[in-house]
Amino acid sequence: MCGIVGYIGKKQAAPILLDGLSKLEYRGYDSAGLAVRDGEKDPVVVKAKGRLKDLSDKTAEGTTVFGCCGIGHTRWATHGEPSENNAHPHVSDGMNVVGVHNGIIENYQELKAKMIRKGYSFYSDTDTEVAIKTVDYYYRKYGVGPIDALAKTMVRVRGSYALAVMFKDYPGEIFVARKDSPMIIGLGEDETYVASDVPAILKYTRKVYYIGNLEMARLSAGQVTFYNLDGDTVEKPLTEITWDAEAAEKGGYEHFMMKEIHEQPKAILDTINSVVRFADGTASDGRTVAGKASIDLSSVGLTDEEIRKFRQIHIVACGSAYHVGIAAQYVIEDLAGVPVRVELGSEFRYRTLLLDPDDLVVIISQSGETADSLAALRESKEKGVRTLAIVNVVGSSIAREADYVFYTMAGPEIAVATTKAYSAQLVSCYILGIQFGLVRGTLSQEKADRLIQELSTLPGKIARILEDKERLQWFASKLSPAHDIFFLGRGLDYAICMEGSLKMKEISYVHSEAYAGGELKHGTISLIEEGTPVIGVLTQKDLIEKTISNMVEVGSRGAYLMGLTTNGNFSIEDQADFTYYIPRTDEHFTPSLAVVPLQLLGYYVACARGLDVDKPRNLAKSVTVE
Ligand code: M6R
Repeated sequence: MCGIVGYIGKKQAAPILLDGLSKLEYRGYDSAGLAVRDGEKDPVVVKAKGRLKDLSDKTAEGTTVFGCCGIGHTRWATHGEPSENNAHPHVSDGMNVVGVHNGIIENYQELKAKMIRKGYSFYSDTDTEVAIKTVDYYYRKYGVGPIDALAKTMVRVRGSYALAVMFKDYPGEIFVARKDSPMIIGLGEDETYVASDVPAILKYTRKVYYIGNLEMARLSAGQVTFYNLDGDTVEKPLTEITWDAEAAEKGGYEHFMMKEIHEQPKAILDTINSVVRFADGTASDGRTVAGKASIDLSSVGLTDEEIRKFRQIHIVACGSAYHVGIAAQYVIEDLAGVPVRVELGSEFRYRTLLLDPDDLVVIISQSGETADSLAALRESKEKGVRTLAIVNVVGSSIAREADYVFYTMAGPEIAVATTKAYSAQLVSCYILGIQFGLVRGTLSQEKADRLIQELSTLPGKIARILEDKERLQWFASKLSPAHDIFFLGRGLDYAICMEGSLKMKEISYVHSEAYAGGELKHGTISLIEEGTPVIGVLTQKDLIEKTISNMVEVGSRGAYLMGLTTNGNFSIEDQADFTYYIPRTDEHFTPSLAVVPLQLLGYYVACARGLDVDKPRNLAKSVTVE
């Protein structure tokens, strides 16, 4: 979603702002802007609708805008259409307050009406302009400093925000405020950065502060002071970002998505190695694993005693992370015998919650900032239920607020369509399933050992699938003209279909649906006509025949059929026009292998249609608003 970058130091701010914003492009946006101050002069504000390149062209790559203090923004429209007028930064009269904002001000209409009564007029449709003018109002009315004006605004505003603001009377300073929207502050040598996400400033500094919820900060070159809502100063630890800056670059691949698909073996291996200890003391290399292994969840914070007590697990997540939850439900219930419910974050928060104090709520989120998932976490905590976060971004809101955190080790994921984070989340859930099973006595030590050994073969098996990707590229060229594509499967295969279908539609814009095979006759089959592509996923021994029957049913109505199955199931070829085999593994873990060809299919169909694979239209990487 929207991105924020700010800089104060000795260098020219505009090129740094543009560079930082370019690192946030993956979040999704439709316009961009910046405001830069040269000493005590008024800020120069430049905005452009469309790509960041348009803003860069307008300012000759930032060289025509002078000054060492500035804020920049990429906007993803929520209030008001994508336009130059609605783009940030927004300003109050006389450039008294100039600011950028991520998030949503829910009561902006009420505040706007109040500001109009106070004599303010508005030039845009945005909630951000309302926020900036509200800050201006309190600043002027009470003659207080910027921190007090921000605090007064914060208690009147409902919603979520990361705000970065410059005040006319405070040259060389930026003031920020945050609630439920990510924001970090970076410290360099005599310079200070602010950003909504780490990649924006990683090139310049690795030292960051995480500003807390309902907190503010005053930034000047090389200095930061934090405040709480009462205006009292707050101490914060400076944290070192350990990410490799290279990891956020394309590394020779045409798209981040393809690079990240290829990083899945490493993401899985790193996630396994973060909690699995091998008896001989050496970590798995992904191909050969010697000796016994055991799972150690001490870094997550979960004790065996706690694991034994949980009555039920509620997995809450959105999008692909929800699909991980669906797969995890099958695996955890089967291995550990604990009832698992899976809920969409957006639904969980709006229904009567029958949570028991002995339940465990598991929030799965790559970004750790998804608004609905975060709200579900908070609601669960309010009800006294313990929460476990499976999160990729270190220091994100969900990671900070959950009782237990299982970090996936996928590294920075830039493409909007998740691949390696999804895979790392799946593996985390398998590990939880195994450990819960072992501790609760539903799994023998011997079976658990076998499962852990099998887990460590997944990276090598994925690497083998990736070596054979050209066959999928060929098949994708047949699918690319399609209007609709259906995915069919049962049990765990259905969970894989859900993710395969989302991958297809979100980047190729081809309508697609995942169906539990048995549901076909209850509606969808009427959509099948000559040439409709149907992809059957068949990895679960006991369900293969059932899904083959479904494929026969749609095949006899003209469907163009692909079968995705494990090595050895050659009978599928009798029914399918194209069959793709994945290596054999324990059936609980087949989602990790079967999803890879489906990610590749989505990718290749999108490429064949000439689309912007990494930045699909209307989508944002991190959905920080409801
Ligand atoms: O950051 P999160 O994992 O919480 O994000 C959840 C979804 O927004 C995300 O998985 C989305 O569905 C992806 N774009 C799918 O590729």
